Amino acid sequence: MSLLERAERSLADYFDQLVSPQTPPRLAAAMRHAVFSSGARIRPQLCTAVALACGDDAPGLSDAMGSAIELMHCASLVHDDMPAFDNADTRRGQPTVHKAFGEPLALLTGDALIVLAYQVLAHAAAQEPQRLGALIRNLSAGVGVPSGIVAGQAWECEVRADLSEYQRAKTGALFVAATCGGALAAGSDPQPWTPLGAFLGEAYQVADDIRDVMGHAQALGKPVGQDALHGRPSVAQSLGLAGAVVYFQNLMDQAVDSIPDCGARELLSQVVRRESERLVPTSMCEAVGQPYPHLQPVPAAMAVRGTGNAVA
Ligand code: IPE
Ligand code: IPE
Ligand code: MG
Ligand code: MG
Repeated sequence: MSLLERAERSLADYFDQLVSPQTPPRLAAAMRHAVFSSGARIRPQLCTAVALACGDDAPGLSDAMGSAIELMHCASLVHDDMPAFDNADTRRGQPTVHKAFGEPLALLTGDALIVLAYQVLAHAAAQEPQRLGALIRNLSAGVGVPSGIVAGQAWECEVRADLSEYQRAKTGALFVAATCGGALAAGSDPQPWTPLGAFLGEAYQVADDIRDVMGHAQALGKPVGQDALHGRPSVAQSLGLAGAVVYFQNLMDQAVDSIPDCGARELLSQVVRRESERLVPTSMCEAVGQPYPHLQPVPAAMAVRGTGNAVA
């Protein structure tokens, strides 16, 4: 089974088990709308890839960690799209949750997905209860204060914000939780996996900033031009497009270099290169005069899906 199939199956199983028929029907529908759309599922795939590199001796637990992280990510997108934040009409190629179900249910959907993430971990931990505390701390660090997603979004409410700290918190921290969570779920030391998550996560947000300028709404499944519209700190704006692409390329190179020496090193570096090409494709690099050697071939184990390669 590919990493993507594992991620999808785990999420579907947990919805079947934990979102019971007693759930208010429109809330359940809104939660499904938020989660079962065309997301790339990169975070749970990364989590499982690291778990496999560490032996994956409790696959139920690594699947749960990946699902919990994806649920947190989906919750953050639901709230991020609401009028109080980015006021976006589309996400993953469909209407945002508040557009489809209204603002009160969008707020509650985000809340319910956050709680569901912890329910998933609690449910799976019967297997290895001694690992639960570390998994909860790891997930919370990626999402809460002082430097998880919530803190990252909150920097938008401050008069001054350090761009790199903002990017690392709002996006990088959950990637760190994904790599470290994979190691923890497999009973391994998470520390060697921190740099991979940090570099990759920051690169993701830099790519997102570039695509917000160079991408097409239809291909990305979400509106573009949002950062300028809302005055958000953006690497594309602070470094210019060519500078942002070079910054992205450096982060991806550092991500590859940071992969610990293990049996899965080659697979993981191919995964990073493939993501690099998906996020900021060769044509986009060339369009700003920064050609970059994305490596081939694409590994079969990690399926490709989600927002694609759009060049203005
Ligand atoms: C989008 O994340 C928001 C960011 C934090 C950059 P992804 O690019 O992983 O989006 P999905 O999950 O594939 O929709
Ligand atoms: C959002 O960053 C990151 C989150 C924590 C949700 P953006 O606002 O740039 O993400 P998109 O562009 O809406 O996906
Ligand atoms: Mg947004
Ligand atoms: Mg964006």
